[in-house]
This record gives sequence, C-alpha cells and structure tokens, in this order.
Amino acid sequence: MKKTLFLFITLIGLSITNSMAQKLPVYLDDTLDIETRVEDALSRLTLEEKIAMIHAQSKFSTPGVPRLGIPEIWMSDGPHGVRAEISWDTWAYAGWTNDSCTAFPALTCLAASFNPQLASEYGKAVGEEARFRKKDILLGPGVNMYRHPMNGRNFEYMGEDPYLASTLVVPYVKGVQSNGVAACVKHFALNNQELWRNQIDVEVSDRALYEIYLPAFKAAVIDGGVWSIMGAYNKYRGQHTTHHKRLTNEILKGEWNFDGCVVTDWGSAHDTDEAALNGLDIEMGSWTNGLTWGESFAYDNYFMAQPYLEKLKKGELPMSTIDDKVRRVLRLQYRTNMNRNRPLGSFTTVEHYDVARRVGQQGIVLLKNEKEFFPIASNKYKKILVVGENATRKLTPSGGSSELKVKQEISPLDGLIARYGADMIEYAMGYGSGPSIYEQVTESPYDTEALRKEAVEKAKTAEVVLFFGGLNKSHLQDCEGGDRTSYELPFGQYELIEEILKVNKNVGVVIISGNGVDMTPFVDKVPAVMQSWYLGSMAGVSTADVISGDVNASGRMPFSVSRKLTDNGAMSYGEKSYPGDGDKQHYLEDIYVGYRWHTTKKIPALFPFGYGLSYTTFGYGDLSADKKEYSKDDVINLSVEITNNGKVAGCETVQIYSSQAKPSVERPIRELKAFDKIYLQPGEKKTVTLTVPVESLAYFDDAKHAWVVENDTFTLSACASAEKVLKQVKIKVK
Ligand code: GLC
Repeated sequence: MKKTLFLFITLIGLSITNSMAQKLPVYLDDTLDIETRVEDALSRLTLEEKIAMIHAQSKFSTPGVPRLGIPEIWMSDGPHGVRAEISWDTWAYAGWTNDSCTAFPALTCLAASFNPQLASEYGKAVGEEARFRKKDILLGPGVNMYRHPMNGRNFEYMGEDPYLASTLVVPYVKGVQSNGVAACVKHFALNNQELWRNQIDVEVSDRALYEIYLPAFKAAVIDGGVWSIMGAYNKYRGQHTTHHKRLTNEILKGEWNFDGCVVTDWGSAHDTDEAALNGLDIEMGSWTNGLTWGESFAYDNYFMAQPYLEKLKKGELPMSTIDDKVRRVLRLQYRTNMNRNRPLGSFTTVEHYDVARRVGQQGIVLLKNEKEFFPIASNKYKKILVVGENATRKLTPSGGSSELKVKQEISPLDGLIARYGADMIEYAMGYGSGPSIYEQVTESPYDTEALRKEAVEKAKTAEVVLFFGGLNKSHLQDCEGGDRTSYELPFGQYELIEEILKVNKNVGVVIISGNGVDMTPFVDKVPAVMQSWYLGSMAGVSTADVISGDVNASGRMPFSVSRKLTDNGAMSYGEKSYPGDGDKQHYLEDIYVGYRWHTTKKIPALFPFGYGLSYTTFGYGDLSADKKEYSKDDVINLSVEITNNGKVAGCETVQIYSSQAKPSVERPIRELKAFDKIYLQPGEKKTVTLTVPVESLAYFDDAKHAWVVENDTFTLSACASAEKVLKQVKIKVK
C-alpha cells in the first residue's frame, strides 16, 4: 500500500516539475538558441529597463534586470590578472581579503614569447581567475601598437607588429572566453600614447590605419570571436573613438560584422546622440578620469541614461538604437552569466603559477652574451653579487588599471636565492626610485651616493655582478595616464653601472621594462644583456630558470630597440607626430612603424624586432616554396630545415617576412607574415612548414578602400630578426 502511495506521489511530483519545465519562459530556456532568447527577453523589457542595462550602476557593474532575473554584469581589469575588488562608487579598493590573484607576465612578455599556444594557456588561466572572481567581462587584452617607446602603457600591449599581435590576441581571447567570461579587447582605436589621452585627436592615413592599427582588433573580432571591445579615450578625425561613426559603425560593426558589445573606456563617452547613433553599447565611468577621481553617484546623468531616455521619449532618437544595444548586452549575458553550463573557474592554482612561470621563461630575451656569460651554472662562481632596485622591487602594484594585488610576487633576488642558495647570493640595492605612485618621483628619496658606494664596494671583490635595472610602474615610466619624458634609464643607473665597471668587468645587465630604453651607455661595455619584463608572481623563478640555464633563453624582441630616440619613426618627425600639440596629432611615419622604419630607412636598430639569442645555435637549410607561381586565392607552403648545432636543447623562432619586387605604391622592405617556434634537442633537425596566404601579401589601397595583391615577384625571407635575412625564396603571383 505504502509503496503504491509513494509511487503515486512521486509521479504527481514529476509531472508537476515536468510541466513547470515546459513552462520556462523562452528567454530562460537554455535548450533554445541565443538569438531566440534575446528577442524574447527584449520583448519583455520596459524602456526604463533597457536604459538601465546599457550604463553603469557602479564603478564596475551594470544592473541587469532584477524583475526578470537577468543578472548584473560585473567587469574587472585587467590583461595580466584580475584586479582587486574596487569600491562601489569610488576608485578606492574595497579592502577584501580574498581577492589576491595570480599576476601573469605583462603582455609584452607574451608577445616576446612568439608562442600562440602559450597565449591560449595564458588566456584560459587568467579567464579562470576572472570566472572564479565572478567577473563576466575581463577588461583586456590591450592590442594598441607600440608606435614609439614613450607610451606609458606599451607594457600592456603586444609590440610593434600587427601580425604578431593578431596571432597572439586570438588564442588569448579564446582562452579567456572558454570560461564563459568575455574578453574586452582595447583600446579601440589609435590610443598609442597616454599624454593628453582624453583629448588628443589623431590624424592617420587609411593605409596605416588598416595595415598597422586595426589588424589586431580585426583578428580578435573575426578570428577570435571576441564578445566585447573597449573604445579609447582619444579622438580620430575629430570624433571620440568610443562612439565613432567610422570606426564603430562602419568598420567594427559594418565591415567586420561585430555582434558583441562596445564598452566605453572609463569616462570616454562624451555625447548622447553620438553614443546612441554611433554604436556605443555600454557606458561606464563617465565623469571619472579612469584612474583616480570621479563624480559620485552620477549614474543617472550618464549620456546613455536620463538624457538618452528623454530623447527616446520625445522621438528625437529612434527606438531601434536602444534595441540594438540591448540585444548586444543580452547576447553577451547569454554567452556569460546567463549560460548555466559555463565552468566555475579557479584561483591562484599551481597550474596558473606554472603558466605565469613559462610565459616568463619564454619571453625573456637574451640580447648579448659574450664569453658565455650566461647561463650561470651553479658551480661557476662561489658568489654572485646582485645589484639594483629592480631585483627586489614589487612590480605588480601600480602602473594604472592593470595593477594587481597578488598572493605572491617572487622577486628576481628571491628567485636567485632559491635557485643558487642564500650563501651564494649577495645583494646591494645600488639605486632606488621611491614609492610607486601616480605622481612622478623625479628625484630618488634615497642617499644615492651611499647606495652607489655600497654597491661598488661589494663589486670590488665579487666574481660576477648581475645588475637589475630598467623602469618601474611609477607615473611617467611604465604607467597608465602619462608618458615617459626621457628615453634614458632613470635614477642614476648609467652612472652606477659605470662605477661598477671601473672595479669589475664581469657584469650582466638585466633590463626590466615594458618599453625600449637607451642602452648605448653600457651595451658595449658589458659582456651580457638581457631584456626582461614585468613577469608577475613568478618573476624571480622565470628569471632564475633562464639565468641558470635550466631553461634556454628563447624570447624575441616584440619591438625595435633604437640606438637613439629619433631613430624611431614616430619620434623622427618631431612634436607634430609625437606628442602632437595637445589637440591634433599626425602619424607622419604612416605605415613605417617600428622595424618597417628601421629596415626601409636603413637606420639599424640596436636590437631589431624579432632579435634574440639562445644558449645554443641553430642552422637553417634552404627555404623552399611548394610552387613557383601562385594565384591570388592560393596559400604558399614554405618549408625550411632547422638544426640545433649546439650542446643544449632550445627553442628557435622561425620568422618569415615578405617583400614585393616592384610595388606600384611604396611598401616597407619587409613585413612579418608567419612565424613558428620549435624546440630542438642538441643535434636534432626538424623541417618547419609555414603557410603564407597570398592574400596576406596585399597592401591597403586608400583610394579603392580595398586590399590589393599585385601580380609581381615576392621574396619570402626566413630571418633571425627583421634586420637579418638567413634564407630567401622568390615566388610569382599571377
Ligand atoms: C582605465 C583604462 C582602461 C581600464 C578602465 C577601467 O582608464 O584606460 O584600460 O580598463 O579604465 O579601469
């Protein structure tokens, strides 16, 4: 009897839940496709609810639609890790105790790794941390081009070449979004300096726009399927880029058919009509400077809040404008916080630290290495003297919105002590730069003489000196909101190196920075130089891995290091080109950015784009193409045999550049079109195959507003850097 009753009750229960399941409203029924659910959700919203969804309710969130159970959207910086929680309505940190994250290396380091697989692991890991911290949009990566070494935010970006940045941004975006977290590629577009970032109005040719400044954004949209894009603070041709008729409507949402959300930079919206009509979808941070101050509780006064609502009610702006925005916001939510199947994320895991460590290992660039200074085997010396503030300084705080509160940051000194043992490592600070704050510390607060004297004293008896210098995350160095005011190393580093060299020649210099610096004062006087980066939580471990030879150096320069500042294209045209006159700025170097300038104008860089040494040497066989002639829709299949001729295993980054024989327009001497990073044991040979689509040999024709591949002879070069050709093969395009 009881059994029957139990069975009966269960059956009733099941049929009720079943019928309830059938009664799920369309917009909540995740057995249906997203577009169907978007339309159903949209049809249920009041105008006020639509308005609420498209602008901030707090510093980093939008309200969703509580009545319908559509959740808030939470956003967080940044490209290198998930920023600590910020207060509701001020830039102050919220003081949480559970938001200390993993700091991954800065994106210049990822770029220097030339490793798309690593970019994918990086994106997945940082996305897991964002997901764990319940963020729906991670405000990164940044892919603005490194136009010159003065830009305070170059450390957040992926170097000077559009193909390199395009190839790395795609796997990073896919990695982040595999967690059900939207990446937000920024800053769209032409935000290539921090000085006057809120008002500088950029003038640039269509050709340079399409060939240099847009490709990484286009790749993120078309190949990466990125779910959101962040506008930039600056203007382009007189209009704010955040709601720009040409950039946003015609190119991003028109030519590229972007179906995601355009988010402002914080405070980069400036006009209701433009925001409504020119494709802005979510307004954040209005009446703030994006860093330190903001008008309190201004949300109803946002350009896309009450002012927009009133214009819609009066019929001054079409309803279709807000419906398009809300569709995009809903679509982003169905891809993120309304997708009940997305993973749960993870935080400061062993796996994440391992990713950070490997990106650091593969991004460090060995620039000079005479007398086999590096690697330093454990038994090579009894003692190593480490000098320099950057061997111990915390470099994850500060730098602007990409700053991080970390569970750990292992400094180079800590890493070296862990690797070699405390009794083998001696330290002298040598120079100091004061606290990391947004206001520039021009003079070091330390007793420079005393610091220098101590370091020189210790150097007198040291067998070897490792000098850790470079820049840091203070204002007017590698920091958002300002640009560098000098190409030189600050805080008396050159004099210190000079003084040390007087008593000890066996000095290796490790530069830590996100920008090129003037290395000419010391580069010819020391046996070894390394370019390192802001490596994050595992900085010291990655550094010790490479210095000790546990891992072979394999990084390649993602930007050219010019001998002098005016050897850089943008800097060679003077104020009009950089920084502009405070209002207008002209990119006079046009398409000749970075190595395009150095190679075409025959101004050799001190260390070219793509340059990097290894602890072994690699031999190149002949470069061959699978055909002699190609049609325009062909793919060129190249192959080259690489041999590790040395005694230790290592990675070689094979780089392929193209040159056109007789172009009808001026073109750079060579442009990067493919690369592949391979790992070879000592003596091992491997045939590397690379593909170059013929269409990628095109230049952008302003007049036709189209990409053009001319019938001509093209030379494809396998290069050790943008300036060193190893092997070549000629092909014809018919
Ligand atoms: C900042 C930055 C941007 C950041 C945003 C939120 O001003 O320009 O990159 O994501 O505001 O902090």
